[in-house]
Amino acid sequence: MDLHTVILAAGKGTRMKSKVPKVLHKLANRPLLTHVFDTVLSLNPSQISTVVGHASEQVIAAFSAGDDSDNINWVQQREQLGTGHAILQVLPWIQPEQTVLVLYADVPLIEKQTLLALLEATKQSQVTLLTTHLDNPEGYGRIIRDDQGFVRRIIEEKDASEQEKQIKEVNTGIMAVSGKFLQEALPKLSNQNAQGEYYLTDLIEIATSQNCKVATKLLENPTEAAGINDLQQLAKLERAYRTKQVTALMQQGVSFIDPERVDIRGDLSVGQDIKVDINVIFEGRVVLSDDVQIGAHCILKDVELGQGVVVKPFTYIEGAVIEGSCELGPYARIRPGTQMAKGAKAGNFVEIKKSIIGANSKVNHLSYIGDAELESDVNIGAGTITCNYDGVRKHKTKIERKAFVGSNTALVAPLTIETGATIGAGSTLSKDAPADTLTLARAKQQTIPLWKRPEKD
Ligand code: UD1
Ligand code: CA
Repeated sequence: MDLHTVILAAGKGTRMKSKVPKVLHKLANRPLLTHVFDTVLSLNPSQISTVVGHASEQVIAAFSAGDDSDNINWVQQREQLGTGHAILQVLPWIQPEQTVLVLYADVPLIEKQTLLALLEATKQSQVTLLTTHLDNPEGYGRIIRDDQGFVRRIIEEKDASEQEKQIKEVNTGIMAVSGKFLQEALPKLSNQNAQGEYYLTDLIEIATSQNCKVATKLLENPTEAAGINDLQQLAKLERAYRTKQVTALMQQGVSFIDPERVDIRGDLSVGQDIKVDINVIFEGRVVLSDDVQIGAHCILKDVELGQGVVVKPFTYIEGAVIEGSCELGPYARIRPGTQMAKGAKAGNFVEIKKSIIGANSKVNHLSYIGDAELESDVNIGAGTITCNYDGVRKHKTKIERKAFVGSNTALVAPLTIETGATIGAGSTLSKDAPADTLTLARAKQQTIPLWKRPEKD
């Protein structure tokens, strides 16, 4: 099949009440249009056209860096005169032998399998519509059928009579049309309707009046065809999408204490026996190995967690690779570029940035470790700070195997604490500390025996 997919994305999205063009609004942290693109690409079409108009530069720019952006034929619709007018702009690129699949950028959750079934049905008809039944069909075009059940036309909400508004079968907007029929019928559309727009949906009436075959495919799960016109619908769909993802994850072996209280804004790959407490947010690309446990109120963004990692409540991890059996939190903040080797720990109120924490090394309390490399079995006392920044440059701290850094120590980088060194509590170090010795840099304790406290007169 010579498949040409056309995505309509020119509308302003007035009902969104936003400066951001509708198709760039995000669902699960990705623009609506990206969802549709991904589905389209999975169909391997011979051509992809996207009709843009309102804020088209902004929309095109948002995708110009993408891997597949070169394959997209961006078509301008300077004035948004309706969905039929939008397809009319693509006409110069439509060939008679093509099957044209029309998708809406504001219908983001449509699935590949549904589209394949729709395309299968086009083999016997000029026009195939995807319809669905809605309990509340408000805002959608209604499907008008004759006594024998054949589709006659589509009536838009704003043009419908009270009786027609009772119809619960609606147009999802998604249709497959033969290129030849489009070439003949598109120029015949008129804008004599309540909105003064050229409706693509009027193609159906044109087809039936010419005795062309119109087929329909019924979509069982209406969420797939849910259109987004306002922020409330966007929020509803975000929830529906999450439910779908969470259900799939539970089938793979993840227990969510409450599947309603978790957010997945990206790709989550999981092993088995994973436990996730409430209000956890996953963003970007997150990989969780077997037996991982995540406490309540954590945020994990672009993170890999190895087998058996335990993340305690209120921990924020971003851009990090955490190997098996590590423990983090509660209240830890792990920043981009951090790697923690097996069995390492980062406890409460610990911030780690762009550092390597060696196997079984512990940073248990109230510390800042930045631009540092810790080898294995290092112990960092409470309140240790790597002073990595001199106001101009960042400097590195190296802490070798089995070093023990006493509490409240400031390590003024660059410096190295050698293997097995011990640093006395309260030290401010600006030079290397030699291996297997005690180094301390603090004022000597003095006692002044004859000193008296001042007294009131
Ligand atoms: C449309 C359908 C309606 C269907 C509903 C499903 C028509 C006339 N109506 O209504 O039958 O039930 O979708 O969601 O087709 N667009 C353009 N250029 C334009 C106008 C719109 O590119 O000039 C794009 C929009 O960006 C959007 C899509 O087409 O992605 C749909 O437009 P919208 O105005 O939202 O149509 P609906 O009123 O929802
Ligand atoms: Ca719409």
